[in-house]
Amino acid sequence: MPRHFLRDDDLTPDEQSAILDLADELKKRPHGDQLAGPRAIAVIFEKNSTRTRFSFEVGIAQLGGHPVVVDGRSMQLGREETIEDTARVLARYVDAVVWRTFAQARIDKLASVATVPVINALTDEFHPCQILADLQTVRERKGSLAGLTLTYLGDGANNMAHSLLLGGVTAGMHVRVAAPAGFHPMPWVLDAVHKRAAETGGSASVLTDPHAAVDGADVVTTDSWTSMGQENDGKDRVAPFRPYQVNGDLLRRTGKDTIVLHDLPAHRGWEITDEVIDGPASAVWDEAENRLHAQKALLTWLMDREEAA
Ligand code: CP
Ligand code: NVA
Repeated sequence: MPRHFLRDDDLTPDEQSAILDLADELKKRPHGDQLAGPRAIAVIFEKNSTRTRFSFEVGIAQLGGHPVVVDGRSMQLGREETIEDTARVLARYVDAVVWRTFAQARIDKLASVATVPVINALTDEFHPCQILADLQTVRERKGSLAGLTLTYLGDGANNMAHSLLLGGVTAGMHVRVAAPAGFHPMPWVLDAVHKRAAETGGSASVLTDPHAAVDGADVVTTDSWTSMGQENDGKDRVAPFRPYQVNGDLLRRTGKDTIVLHDLPAHRGWEITDEVIDGPASAVWDEAENRLHAQKALLTWLMDREEAA
């Protein structure tokens, strides 16, 4: 069975750290022949994307590979062909499949049949490629990860909250999620997070008070209040989320030299203010750049494993 990257705890702490080291190396030397042949990588989107799409396509090309970037809504998958049959066919053409889709169960199904590595480019539940870039960015700014406190404010039940929790504790961080009632992380995700934290010395906590959540935080981050696919679910997000906006007043409450992340796209004036995203604490443009390096490291690492198998 190939190794897949479907959620953050698919990597052990040592593996995550090795991929971040490789990402730092690739940032210094962007061009190489790691995917020469060329290896073909399918990159399929069932939701919109700017960063993920460009960083995978450019990154694969920089390593000598051949990206096949497709709008999933134009595939037969969008008609009557099953996920399993799609996986069987794609594995005959390509060396890995990168997929952005809706429910995690869909990518789990693809991976259960695929004979090549499958990479999660965002599902409703997880966004693990983003977290590799986030961790690379924090490490660049702070020197190390274990023991740092990262606070996420906003929708605690979305893909970013879940992946920051799972990826953050894998790195030995203390991850706090501050979210209004009704938007807390899913219990089954928290179970996995606590299990991983027990192995690494990291920790996870869920709070409703945004001020308590940022006190002493080394990293503050947020995400859109309405994720892709939730636009018409009828939930009022503005009133409950407004106290969780990352603004200058909240940031000053950390009492520390805190850095700010945002996976982007940002909704300026909603979950984050111009003052913060354009201010000195913001690391968001490095974070966006690091998608490129972190994903190239992940692909290189997965392909090395395939060769060794
Ligand atoms: N952060 C992120 O995944 O951005 P895109 O949706 O633009 O790919
Ligand atoms: N939570 C957001 C992340 C976008 C990169 C969404 O799923 O739309």
